[in-house]
Amino acid sequence: MSAGQRPGDAQVPSHVAVIMDGNGRWAQLRGLPRQEGHRRGLEALRRTVKNAADLGIEFLTLYSFSTENWRRPATEVSFLMGLLKRFVEKDLAELDASNVRVRIIGGRQDLSPDLRRLVEHAEAVTRDNTGLTLVIAFNYGSRDEIVRTARQLAADAAAGRIAVESIDEATISARLDTSDMPDPELVIRTSGETRVSNFLLWQAAYAEFVFTPVLWPDFDRAALEEALAEYRRRERRFGGLSEPSDRNVGAA
Ligand code: IPE
Ligand code: IPE
Ligand code: MG
Repeated sequence: MSAGQRPGDAQVPSHVAVIMDGNGRWAQLRGLPRQEGHRRGLEALRRTVKNAADLGIEFLTLYSFSTENWRRPATEVSFLMGLLKRFVEKDLAELDASNVRVRIIGGRQDLSPDLRRLVEHAEAVTRDNTGLTLVIAFNYGSRDEIVRTARQLAADAAAGRIAVESIDEATISARLDTSDMPDPELVIRTSGETRVSNFLLWQAAYAEFVFTPVLWPDFDRAALEEALAEYRRRERRFGGLSEPSDRNVGAA
């Protein structure tokens, strides 16, 4: 049982991943600019980090900016870049004091040099923390991650550093951005959209998905607990059979 997990709460997933969606609609509903939705979305993020740690979740991955989000207007893109920068600058000390380990996944080559340095600094400062691991998926796209991994493996094979036959699922998992993390057991998407939008395609092969109509800026403790309750009601089979009654097929 991890620190913070309550007795009797054995079914809290160790890794919860969230597609934080609906900031724009939250603002639009109130006649506010989209940026205000993103600002309020950052508050929901802070809240969720605290709630997740409190509920005994060990890894929390938050989808903050996708490789496809570059298609948005330049003003929105730079606002979102600035928001990540301000978040790291403002919150790093408190995250560190709360024993949170920070990780950023996604392509770093497209980030500005100062943002890249900041992200590396946040990871270095919190590397040895033992509490919640907060994973921010930024400029993240699952297909991009798999392409980067495939290129690396191909280069190693071409140079004779690895044998082609030695490549298996574990080899690939070990070279993804999420190399040292367990796969997410639960993926939550807010705002009522029911698609995966290029998020953790490999890692979520057997995750449970919970879709909630709550817009991300409104996501609170109750919404997180409801998603966890929904997860507990699910039966995970991993391709096998779990109910004894299912095993009788073909029995005399
Ligand atoms: C999620 O909110 C934040 C990001 C994708 C960066 P959206 O900005 O996608 O909000 P909607 O989907 O337009 O409501
Ligand atoms: C997914 O949300 C990406 C993030 C939450 C960062 P989008 O709002 O970009 O996804 P689509 O375009 O609706 O699929
Ligand atoms: Mg959206």
